[in-house]
Amino acid sequence: MDIQNEFRIGMRKYIYSVSVISNTQSNGRKNAITVSSVTSISINPPSIIVCINKKSSIHESLVLDSKFCINLVNEEQQDIAEVCSDPNRINERFKNIEWIGDKPPIMKNALVNIICKVDKIVEYKTHSIVIGLVQKIKNSEHKNPLMYQEGVYKKSV
Ligand SMILES: Cc1cc2nc3c(=O)[nH]c(=O)nc-3n(C[C@H](O)[C@H](O)[C@H](O)COP(=O)(O)O)c2cc1C
Repeated sequence: MDIQNEFRIGMRKYIYSVSVISNTQSNGRKNAITVSSVTSISINPPSIIVCINKKSSIHESLVLDSKFCINLVNEEQQDIAEVCSDPNRINERFKNIEWIGDKPPIMKNALVNIICKVDKIVEYKTHSIVIGLVQKIKNSEHKNPLMYQEGVYKKSV
């Protein structure tokens, strides 16, 4: 088997927590896509990375100093994760999902909303690594994140 297939199989074994990254670009267009590539960098300053495919709809709008929100999806929000990862359902993302505000849009009922400013973008091949400087955090009472492993969504046990 070639190394790309071995890599794909290996990476599918990880358990990922599912987030949606959301923003509003300068022309008013709103974007939201499902991501698993969220990792904190440092506590001082609070900072976070997310890896974004250059072909995704949100990519071009993630410019320096622009705001975005990382919304950690709760285990009852699988339908939201599905809408935000299906290119054919792009028009549903701001109709059928509840948001608060739009600068950036903040998802209702997420475990945590992490509002960031784009501090740095590192391009790497097919993706950009977006480094966000955290501006504000909204923690909720929801306890359990939606998870993803082997291509399947899972609830917490
Ligand atoms: C569980 C899961 C995790 C994902 N993680 C990422 C990610 O970290 N970065 C990324 O660019 N796309 C990721 N995707 C793929 C995007 O959600 C998908 O390509 C989406 O359709 C892109 O948005 P668009 O349709 O508006 O272009 C993930 C998809 C799923 C189902």
